[in-house]
Amino acid sequence: MNKRTFFKSGLLGMIALFLPKKAHPLEYYPMPSDKKWAILYGTWCGSARDAAIWISEGMDGIANVFDVRENPDLSVYDHIIVGGAVRGGKTSQELQDYIAKNKEILKTRIRGYFAVCGNMMKPVGPETTKTLIDDHLATICSVTNIPSKVFLGRITYGLMEPEVRKQMEGFKMPEYDNLKRPECMAFGKEVLGTVI
Ligand SMILES: Cc1cc2nc3c(=O)[nH]c(=O)nc-3n(C[C@H](O)[C@H](O)[C@H](O)COP(=O)(O)O)c2cc1C
Repeated sequence: MNKRTFFKSGLLGMIALFLPKKAHPLEYYPMPSDKKWAILYGTWCGSARDAAIWISEGMDGIANVFDVRENPDLSVYDHIIVGGAVRGGKTSQELQDYIAKNKEILKTRIRGYFAVCGNMMKPVGPETTKTLIDDHLATICSVTNIPSKVFLGRITYGLMEPEVRKQMEGFKMPEYDNLKRPECMAFGKEVLGTVI
């Protein structure tokens, strides 16, 4: 290598170092599979994210897991599970808007729903499932008769927006953690089992 080539390639290498790299959202270790699965979730404080990751774990890690705020292109997936945390009886506005915007893509691919809620720390009954799945997620997605599950979630004050924290503390709501990994994994397995 002559002196000129040496300096030229060195300079190009240094420029490349400073060029901004395109950021990619974190992929939650999807395992190889002949089917392409995605799980889309909306969350405020992270319990719905954990539920989504554990659902994927129940599917032996083949599903790619996306926060709706990443605005993923889900048209490249064959099968999709949609779910989210609940505040005021509904999932986040971001999730609702994403579903409305991507309805055509989602319509033929949705295979399951989940919701994560407090439910006043009481066990989930059919009424809660009707409110959060049938009358909410299934209604806005316009896909019915597929597996669904409502999980009990968590309250972690340190993760809340300050004004929300103040409001919740005012209700004397204790911190709790009722989200169960085995339940999320079992749901993942159940949904996977519906697709041959
Ligand atoms: C401001 C606020 C409103 C909530 N509203 C409801 C509700 O309407 N129904 C319910 O069952 N749980 C409600 N919860 C409990 C949450 O659904 C629960 O904490 C859930 O785990 C939050 O999920 P995330 O950590 O993914 O945001 C509420 C929690 C907060 C902080």
